[in-house]
Amino acid sequence: MGERSKILIFGASGYFGRYLSKASISMGYPTYAYLRPLRPDNHPSKLQLLKYLQSMGLTIYHGELEEHDKVVSVIKEVDIVISALAVPQHLDQIKIINAIKEAGNVKRFIPSEYGNEVDRVKGALPAFQKLLDNKQRIRRATEEAGIPFTYVSANSFMSYFVSYLLRPHHRNSNHLTLTVYGTGEAKAALNHEEDVAVYTVRAATDPRAANRVIICRPPKNIISQLELVASWEKLIARPIKRNHLSSHQLIALSQEVAFSDNVAIAILHNIFVMGAQLSFELTHHDLEASQLYPDYNYTSIHDFLHRCLLHPPIPTLATFA
Ligand SMILES: NC(=O)c1ccc[n+]([C@@H]2O[C@H](COP(=O)([O-])OP(=O)(O)OC[C@H]3O[C@@H](n4cnc5c(N)ncnc54)[C@H](OP(=O)(O)O)[C@@H]3O)[C@@H](O)[C@H]2O)c1
Repeated sequence: MGERSKILIFGASGYFGRYLSKASISMGYPTYAYLRPLRPDNHPSKLQLLKYLQSMGLTIYHGELEEHDKVVSVIKEVDIVISALAVPQHLDQIKIINAIKEAGNVKRFIPSEYGNEVDRVKGALPAFQKLLDNKQRIRRATEEAGIPFTYVSANSFMSYFVSYLLRPHHRNSNHLTLTVYGTGEAKAALNHEEDVAVYTVRAATDPRAANRVIICRPPKNIISQLELVASWEKLIARPIKRNHLSSHQLIALSQEVAFSDNVAIAILHNIFVMGAQLSFELTHHDLEASQLYPDYNYTSIHDFLHRCLLHPPIPTLATFA
């Protein structure tokens, strides 16, 4: 798998998929997307995004995941398949696995994960556990099909979580109150979406990452919620009121609120109360992304917060996991 590997992305039009598309194209890989056809109810920005990605060099095939023969014929044209399908479509990746199996030429498959390390995190509330179970099912189906894989555990997307936890677009408010989950002392790993996309594409073409899990836990991005709020408070030079939601309150909330808010609460509980992302030690057998690619200058949380002062990230409605 060299520089000319052809990369096909499922979900290229999504929140993370567009970072992946840009990373793959800018690293010089012929990059393809398999996307469902545009619908009349699509927001005009979707068409603009696709035109922009095409102008960068993305080749787009349109089709449904159910069109098995079409999916197989597109997969036969490429070497590597990366999925960034949305959470509700995770189990649909069985269709991609079946197509890869039939095509028989794919050298690496990266399923849509980019969150907590699903085989090692513990203590998830049911709404989040269901999501982790689905990701595990896709891992096991990939392995049973004998497809070479890389799994990417991105932990928390930086832009996404900073936007959610610190609400930087409200930085000028005189009465800023932020919610702290649990004691706020549990550490999490926040990784910029651009960096996770670069790590994913690099790992997809790296023999060292074949049939391995890549874990994004770079030392400069391990931070607790209290540390994050204190850093932000210092940067904006105004006091921030902390409103703590205890573990018990979060558990109760996750049972009371409707889907998909219950999933969001359960994720926050797992990351910031259970400290799940840092709950297991990495050994020399593990592949930590910043150690695997020490030449890559990843965005530190410190630099990102400075950037947020001038350009706060746009709040997103994508479902995180
Ligand atoms: N660690 C974190 O902090 C974090 C945060 C967010 C997401 N994630 C993970 O990142 C991955 C991608 O999530 P995302 O938020 O980027 O997803 P997203 O923006 O909601 O959507 C991703 C893609 O799924 C496609 N899709 C949706 N429904 C489909 C269907 N019925 N058939 C075919 N394609 C369909 C969308 O295509 P259309 O453009 O046609 O709708 C889009 O390209 C997920 O695995 C998620 O768990 C992690």
